[in-house]
This record gives sequence, structure tokens and C-alpha cells, in this order.
Amino acid sequence: MAIQKPEGTEDLLPADMRFYRTFVDTAFNVFGKYGYAPIETPLFEQTDLFVRGIGEATDVVSKEMFTAISAANMQKVLAGEKLRAKSRLSLRPEGTAGTVRAIAQAGLVGQGTAPVKFTYAGPMFRAERPQKGRLRQFHQVGVECMGADAPSIDAEGIIMLMRFYEEIGIPMDKTHLLINSMGDEHCRPEYREKVRTYILDHEDRMCDDCRRRADANPLRAFDCKEEGCRAVMADAPKVTDALCDECKSHYAQVKAYLDAAGIVYEEDPTLVRGLDYYTRTVFEIQVDIEGMGSNAAIGGGGRYDGLMKEISGKPAPGFGFAIGYERCRLALEAAGAATAVAPACDLFIACVDDSTRAAAFPLVQACRDAGASAEVDHQSRSLKSQFKLADKLGARKVAVLGPDEAAKGAVNLRDMATHEEEIVAWTDLPSRL
Ligand code: HAM
Repeated sequence: MAIQKPEGTEDLLPADMRFYRTFVDTAFNVFGKYGYAPIETPLFEQTDLFVRGIGEATDVVSKEMFTAISAANMQKVLAGEKLRAKSRLSLRPEGTAGTVRAIAQAGLVGQGTAPVKFTYAGPMFRAERPQKGRLRQFHQVGVECMGADAPSIDAEGIIMLMRFYEEIGIPMDKTHLLINSMGDEHCRPEYREKVRTYILDHEDRMCDDCRRRADANPLRAFDCKEEGCRAVMADAPKVTDALCDECKSHYAQVKAYLDAAGIVYEEDPTLVRGLDYYTRTVFEIQVDIEGMGSNAAIGGGGRYDGLMKEISGKPAPGFGFAIGYERCRLALEAAGAATAVAPACDLFIACVDDSTRAAAFPLVQACRDAGASAEVDHQSRSLKSQFKLADKLGARKVAVLGPDEAAKGAVNLRDMATHEEEIVAWTDLPSRL
């Protein structure tokens, strides 16, 4: 049997790739205006980075991480040997932990430095049950800003994200921006304890998972999909009632900036997100599109003021978000927005017969060397089928090269949009594209 792609993965064929690149370019363009510069970090990192950064008790770390292991180390494991920390590797389930590690390792933030702003795009890996909008290898475009705890950074980031969605064509009337504050190391522990006690007081009505999680990660119960748990958690203590004065003030300022910018949002005191590093602001963008169900979040993020210290020992506040590419594409397709991007082909050289092929070969090469994208037929196709091919490639111009033109050292250059034709000398062709 022919080998198939692994479950929960997608091939990005050239047409998909064109849209993916447009998506990433648009994001980098928008984010660049806010000072975010591209960065790339490894697809795998030490497992400990994710355990410490994202949290051991999260689903992402405890259930969904893919281990990356060399064949030699696999032999050691099978022989019962324990691997050293630097050999215990995992494919990245998200981009924040790696980016923060890279920023710490390069020593880019310190006392009194201006915040650093980075953006990245690429595949992330989570061993989830594959379904529409939920893959095992998916793509994110994300941003991370480190070194500033000002609420204006959070607001600026959220505004920038909404500008991106608008620019790429996400239907804004079907989009909800949910925001919340999760408190910080001063007020969260007390709140967590309140939720833990509340869950234990209602444990007879809650699922096994939530009961089990009550100690390790009680806030996850807000995300449980079980009806019984949802009903119980609807009356659970709200984080917004438990915020300390500093967190309350930070949250109020974020909202004030968003209000002033005309950003519409809904406050959701049950929004807790699935990664443990968040402090203060958290947000998620969901789309109302049929069939997306529990995979309606097309992006999310928040502030993580304790993550850098967890990873490197040196404290620095942080803020960021990530956008799910595949879910955005689903949302765009469902809304009938264009995701097709025409291939770039400036010129197709069509040979009237085989006698002109030898002249066409260096000519197409000269056009490419001059910076144009140019193609020629390599299969002795008829003129008619060469025109069909030119059409399929989206060629803006077709240079017809017959024996008469070849004798004059020229081509008959046709503009495929206006159908205008002109005779152009070979030497002038590259500069006419
Ligand atoms: P996240 O909410 O886990 O956050 O993921 C961000 C987005 O990635 C989601 O809103 C969703 O669109 C997409 N996504 C997540 N899992 C899958 C999946 N299995 N299949 C398809 N798409 C998926 C983070 O990853 C954080 N690192 C965001 C962040 C950056 N927070 C601060 N900085």
C-alpha cells in the first residue's frame, strides 16, 4: 500500500503554499509597523523548557507533546538507561517558550533596555485527536514582546491582531474578542485555592478529569466541555472579583486603551486559556462559523510576567499571542473570502514549432537572470496547448516565437490581459517584463 501522510497533518501543495506565504507576509507586514521583527527558533527544544514554561499539569504538556529522540538514544531508553536533560527533546507545541528561551540566551532584555518585539511563523506539534480545525501539525504566526509590563503593550498587541484579521479578510461581524485578567503571583494563588475548594465542594457533580485536576490545575475546570461541569463552573468564583489592586488597575487600563481605539470586546471571567504561564491579561478570538465547533478560536494570547524567570532565572515581563493559520483559512473559506493567490509568472515563451526551441532556451534564461519569472515548454507541446499551459501558470505575457520572428531575432509579445501585441527584439525582452 502506498504510504500516506501521518494522521492530523496536511501537505501544503503549491496553491496552499502561496496562500500560506501571503498570510505570513501580511502578518509580518502588519506586525512590522508595530516594531515586531522576525525570529526563528528550533522546531524541537529540551522537554524541560515546555514542562517548566507551559506547565506540567497542562494538557499540552502532559498529554499532547511529541517526544523527539535520536535512534541512538532510543536504543539507550529501550535498554533501560535514563536520558540526560539535554537529550530529552520534544517537538514544540507552541512558540512562546522557545522564543523566550532564545531572548534569554541571547541576553536581549535586561534592566533599562527597551522592550524587544519578535514575530515568528511555522509549524507546531500537538498530539491531539485530529478533527476539522484541530491538527497534530499546524501552523501559527505569533508575536512576543519582552521587557515591558505596561498595559499599553497589551492593548497595542490586541489592536494589531485585530488589524491583521481585518486585512486578511476575516469577517469581523462574525468575530468575538474575549478578554479577561488572570491576576498575578500575589492574587492568583488565593483565587486558585478558592476554585479548588469550590470544585471539591461540588465534586459529586463533576467529571473525573476535573476532580483529578482540582489540586494540580483547578482553573482548567472552566474549560471542561462536560455539561455537569459547565453548570457547576458557571457559578464558580470569578477571577475578576479576586484581583489585587495592581492587577485591577492594569486590566482597567488595557480596557481603556481598547475602548479609545474603538475595539469591541467581551469580558469573559471564565477565560483561563490552556497554558499555565499567563498572568494578568488573557484574550482569545473566536469566530461564529458553522462546523468549527470547539475549534472556533483563531488566535489567543496574553501576558506572561513570570515565564522568563521560570526559564532563565532572570525576571522580565512578557506579552504575546499566536494565530492559528489552518483555522483562519477555514474561517475565510466558510465566509467565501478569497484564499486563492495567482501564481507569479511574468512570461511564457511559446514556440510555434520545434525549430525555435533552441533560441527560446537562452531567451527564457536571460529573462530569469533579469529578475522575471519566466517559463517555456519542455515537452514539444502544440502551440494551442502551450497557450493553455501559459494560462494555467497565470502568465501575464506570452512571447510567441515562430520561424519568422526567429529570423528577425524577435518575438511577438502578447499581453494576456489586454490582448495587445507587439514585436519585441530578443535583446529588449527582459526589460519589457
Ligand atoms: P494557543 O491558544 O494554544 O496559544 O494557540 C494559538 C492558536 O493556535 C489557537 O487559537 C488556534 O487557532 C491554533 N491552534 C492551537 N492548537 C491547534 C491545533 N491542534 N490545530 C490547529 N490549530 C491549533 C499558544 O500557542 C500561545 N503560545 C499563544 C501565545 C503567544 N501566548 C503568548 N504568546
